[in-house]
Amino acid sequence: MPVLANDANRHSAPANEPIVKLFGDGEFYDGLPYLEQLQLANSKHPIKVDRYGSGGAVEELEKKFETITGKEKAIYMPSGTMANQFAIAMLSGDSTKVFVQDTSHVYRDEADAAQSIFNKRLMPLAKDQTFFTADELKKAIENLDSEEVFKSGLGCVSLENPVRRTDGRMVPISEIKKISEYCRSKNIKLHLDGARLYMASAWSGVSIKEYSSYFDTIYISLYKYLGASGGAILCGDKTLIEKMPHMIKIHGGNMFGNWLNAAMASYKLDGIEERLQEAIKRSKEIFAALNQIPGMKISPLDGGTNIYSMKFPAGILGQKFGESLNGYFIRIPRPNENGEAKISVNETLLYREPKYIIDAIKDSINKAK
Ligand SMILES: Cc1ncc(COP(=O)(O)O)c(C=O)c1O
Repeated sequence: MPVLANDANRHSAPANEPIVKLFGDGEFYDGLPYLEQLQLANSKHPIKVDRYGSGGAVEELEKKFETITGKEKAIYMPSGTMANQFAIAMLSGDSTKVFVQDTSHVYRDEADAAQSIFNKRLMPLAKDQTFFTADELKKAIENLDSEEVFKSGLGCVSLENPVRRTDGRMVPISEIKKISEYCRSKNIKLHLDGARLYMASAWSGVSIKEYSSYFDTIYISLYKYLGASGGAILCGDKTLIEKMPHMIKIHGGNMFGNWLNAAMASYKLDGIEERLQEAIKRSKEIFAALNQIPGMKISPLDGGTNIYSMKFPAGILGQKFGESLNGYFIRIPRPNENGEAKISVNETLLYREPKYIIDAIKDSINKAK
């Protein structure tokens, strides 16, 4: 499917001058541009409101994700933190031990909710690494009996993919398969924090449905690259997901209206995979051309997704470079003291033709010498 900037199939950029942002996972719409996007969405497909998460745009979004993930049921939640915590708590039942990656959002960035609210003890594996292997998980589980006196039970295992704290690196699909196989053979439930699963899918070529098939529950963010101002979707078996409205209510997350987020995510979801593939294709062309500049090197991270390492030619003045690029409506993170930056590929790359971006960066490099 064609996805060029002037193509009617393409979602439009914000109405004022669109900015190519080589950071983050997608576009964030603030204020008026958000409303303009919703108007576009509404003209394509009339937006219907929900009430307390029932009906309207929320139900439509949930149905889409049921098809996308192949899971029996999907439910909208106000945040990914809530989706992760409820999934882990409900998959674990009364058992308290939960294995997670040391680098995961669940372990480091959710204010110890698992311990303090849900009586679960998160047990980190693979210190500072992107992932633990199936063998490491197996060993840790087998050692529980000899290493711990009180048998409070293994609740579940949670995996994040890709991993935000390791610059979006992925858990290899071969390892996910082994982890899933092992967990299923032992009747251990497995949760996926797939906040950025579309990034993993675009860069690995593994479909969202295939990723989902290895897990009992999957959460996907609605705002990191789907344009919404917040929100999350959690998918899984009907019996488990049907327990969630009660959990949402008792934790104060049952919002009167959620359609502003759901309608935006639903609109952006259409064609997201094609747009990401086009962004990847164009990024290859752009990076190959920029790598011809003496001293410039843009390279993918080992096992990475949309984050790349960019080495600038020696002596570039970061501030001057940034100011020049601003004039072209392009933003790139400033180089650090070693002349390096981490840049991201996302669909804002489609706002301009590759040649325009290449020429703008070349010109800005020259001006910043
Ligand atoms: C990997 C990951 N999981 C979960 C979350 C939580 O999402 P939310 O901000 O919707 O609570 C984030 C947010 O940064 C994240 O990066």
